[in-house]
Amino acid sequence: MLKHGKYYLTYNAIHKTMKSLARKLAESGYEPDVIVAIGTGGFIPARILKTFLDLPILTVGIKHYDEQNRPQERPQTVQWIDEVEKKLKGKRVLLVDEVDDSRVTLEYCLRELLRHGPEEIAVMVLHNKKKSKRGTFPDSVKRRYVGEEVDDVWICYPWDAQDIDFQDRQAQEE
Ligand code: G4P
Ligand code: MG
Repeated sequence: MLKHGKYYLTYNAIHKTMKSLARKLAESGYEPDVIVAIGTGGFIPARILKTFLDLPILTVGIKHYDEQNRPQERPQTVQWIDEVEKKLKGKRVLLVDEVDDSRVTLEYCLRELLRHGPEEIAVMVLHNKKKSKRGTFPDSVKRRYVGEEVDDVWICYPWDAQDIDFQDRQAQEE
């Protein structure tokens, strides 16, 4: 049962979801050359995935919310390394983030990455929120891997917890 419309998760649960995503990826036959993690939410999921896939991780920083947690009109690149661009040409990319919410950040990021000539880009997220999306996936993005479909609730990730024991207790109660 969700209390106050919040969905609490443990690191343990997230580790297992990433393992199941690695399995789904293998079953699909898609063999990425490189993981691109969208920071900051995608960092820890991507790192866990590396345990099961052993691929290099490139990171890009994009933010859609400002310091006061207000959504911005458009996502902004806060970190975009030239190296990322050089390393994408002709590659099969797996773009990893924690949540597909409005899809605006994901769309922005996909369109930026597609400019650099990858062979293909697939998207992997821990959670997809079942809601109408403001962003859309570019047509060339055919593969999507979702750990868990969730209602439009606020997901509390363990890396945001000030008190990790409280986090674990809340998750256990659900
Ligand atoms: P999307 O394309 O992935 O759907 O992203 P969208 O632009 O809608 O905004 C995503 C931002 O909102 C991300 O933060 C993401 O972490 C945060 N977010 C959306 N829903 C939830 C949720 O249920 N729980 C939590 N904890 N965060 C959520 P960001 O500004 O990109 O920064 P960062 O947190 O990744 O650093
Ligand atoms: Mg994010």
